[in-house]
Amino acid sequence: MEFANQVILITGASNGIGRQLAVDLAARGAIVAGCGRSIPRLKEVLVEVRRASPRSAMIGCDVGDAEQVRGMMAKVLADYGKIDILINNAGVGMRQPFADMPIETVEEIMRTNFLGAVYCAHEVLPSMIARGTGHIVNISSGAGKIGTLNMAAYCGSKFAMNGWSESLYHELKPLGVKVSIICPGPVQTEFNRDFRDSEPKSPEKLIVTAEAVCREVINAIEKNKFEVIMPRWLALLCAFKRHMPNLFRHLAQRRFDPYISRTAPAEHRMTGTHGVD
Ligand SMILES: NC(=O)c1ccc[n+]([C@@H]2O[C@H](COP(=O)([O-])OP(=O)(O)OC[C@H]3O[C@@H](n4cnc5c(N)ncnc54)[C@H](OP(=O)(O)O)[C@@H]3O)[C@@H](O)[C@H]2O)c1
Repeated sequence: MEFANQVILITGASNGIGRQLAVDLAARGAIVAGCGRSIPRLKEVLVEVRRASPRSAMIGCDVGDAEQVRGMMAKVLADYGKIDILINNAGVGMRQPFADMPIETVEEIMRTNFLGAVYCAHEVLPSMIARGTGHIVNISSGAGKIGTLNMAAYCGSKFAMNGWSESLYHELKPLGVKVSIICPGPVQTEFNRDFRDSEPKSPEKLIVTAEAVCREVINAIEKNKFEVIMPRWLALLCAFKRHMPNLFRHLAQRRFDPYISRTAPAEHRMTGTHGVD
């Protein structure tokens, strides 16, 4: 597929997989509009991206804020007249037992990873449907296929993304708009910086590079694949879970059990709730 002059909006383009996607797609001739919250990082990426694609732009935007997303989409549509491909990549992932995690953190994860993608798609879809063409690519995770220790909120956000994507696929197919989800296993990015020693870690040789994820994303766009689970070991693990769910859960529990803290967490008090007199 030819990416020349395709306008591609990538969320979370200031770092990691999103940054790599911006560079790789610009090198293939796309006009990249990227977003993120860190302006200094976006400026760095812009310099790199513009070497190959001078009309590309970077925009400061928190995808968890619907107003900011509205402003960003309006600007990109006004500047370029269209968005051919939306790549919902922005994401955060804190690791903590769910009972210990402040509810505000759970909300932040859901707002960025799930609602951020929802806001972006909701803003871009009217123009895609009107043109009868477009592609929404959602960067999910293996954690959207398999529930993992200390990642309940993150898994919740990615399972939500997968269900939403499947529904969107059916709604949009007759209208000419394609939908893809990419579910990578662990990737070498700053995303995993808060990994603790108190958790099961993936062996180094199972961790893939951001470049490898980008190759799969580009392939999924070119071949219009709905779902990509990568690398191969993760796809096999998901197939095992699908076919033998009870055995899978039993083995997973055995792996996780040594890492589970038995101490009761401090109680969380949500602000803004009212007692009953
Ligand atoms: N790394 C992994 O092991 C792994 C595995 C499977 C799936 N994934 C998924 O891949 C995606 C990219 O992750 P990564 O590994 O590249 O992580 P990363 O290196 O930490 O990059 C995350 C990107 O998301 C942006 N971002 C975070 N919150 C945002 C917000 N509220 N609004 C706008 N941008 C925001 C960050 O930019 P700012 O900080 O500038 O806002 C950054 O550009 C995520 O959706 C993640 O869930 C990662």
